[in-house]
Amino acid sequence: MEVTNVTEYQAIAKEKLPKMVYDYYASGAEDQWTLEENRNAFARILFRPRILIDVSKIDMTTTILGFKISMPIMIAPTAMQKMAHPEGEYATARAASSANTIMTLSSWATSSVEEVASTGPGIRFFQLYVYKDRNVVAQLVRRAERAGFKAIALTVDTPRLGRREADIKNRFTLPPFLTLKNFEGLDLGKMDEAADSGLASYVAGQIDRTLSWKDVQWLQTITKMPILVKGVITAEDTRLAIQAGAAGIIVSNHGARQLDYVPATIMALEEVVKAAQGRVPVFLDGGVRRGTDVFKALALGASGIFIGRPVVFSLAAEGEAGVRKVLQMLRDEFELTMALSGCTSVKQISREHIVTEWDAPRVRPGPRL
Ligand code: FNR
Repeated sequence: MEVTNVTEYQAIAKEKLPKMVYDYYASGAEDQWTLEENRNAFARILFRPRILIDVSKIDMTTTILGFKISMPIMIAPTAMQKMAHPEGEYATARAASSANTIMTLSSWATSSVEEVASTGPGIRFFQLYVYKDRNVVAQLVRRAERAGFKAIALTVDTPRLGRREADIKNRFTLPPFLTLKNFEGLDLGKMDEAADSGLASYVAGQIDRTLSWKDVQWLQTITKMPILVKGVITAEDTRLAIQAGAAGIIVSNHGARQLDYVPATIMALEEVVKAAQGRVPVFLDGGVRRGTDVFKALALGASGIFIGRPVVFSLAAEGEAGVRKVLQMLRDEFELTMALSGCTSVKQISREHIVTEWDAPRVRPGPRL
């Protein structure tokens, strides 16, 4: 049957993928409350569309860190994409570049920064996990810069891995024919089968739990690439990130895979936007599955959004064509939402185009007689 929306790829991926792989992609942490909430919260934001505006031409282009892209819809880093499809990150990179948008490559990709760069031109960001061995980090950041990556998305919500129970039950580990390519040849521990989740053990062994704000400053001494801090959901941390020199903030709860019972990102967005005071751009990821979701995020002040799971699910279903289709469907839906809301450019999307549960009632009931 024809796929007509992004969400439909999830069921196809579930049929096609080994259980261990599907569960790894789909899961959230613990009770998965935040996982559901990331989606549900969008449904609590409604539109206030404006009518009788000439919408015969819609311009969805936008500029992110100085790079002009076709739409404010970008690709979040998701690890180990070759588990979904043999072409993995190559397919994602090609799909992003043909849609003229940005792909973020995970530190834990199954293709290296150089391999992804070799797929051709494209604006790409590199997601960084900070390892205990800072030489490894410095080397990797330099390689990404040399390979033409344009920014670092520094993930700050993962000093330890969230408790994803399906991965524990499945004893999740990277299939033996794949490797974390960015670390190939380095003398680091492998992700072996462990007594629980192989990935959780790997993180416990390699990732630096001491990471703190001073490291955001350290990172700026080893690279010229701008740094986006990925995983901020409070006003306090927004202010600290800006003080530490962040070029932008990604409001993210890691696709609900880290701390359960944090709010949906769309609920946290406005707090962060207000704290940022326009000094740096604010982005959002988490639960974006519709063009209407993209519009709502922009109306609440985001400069753009990133998608995670839709990429791995569509990769699993149809490879590069699937990822292209996901980007195209979101683009078409976003364009339609703009038209039906009376917006002809991304800049016109405003807070007045939506109403949220936390807004004061606009029309007060009259006095009871
Ligand atoms: C992720 N995410 C993630 N984040 C990161 O900084 N580095 C990583 O390697 C990964 N890997 C990863 C794998 C998988 C399978 C998922 C689902 C997620 C988090 C990701 O970048 C993003 O924050 C969320 O995926 C966004 O939520 P949605 O779009 O998946 O709902």
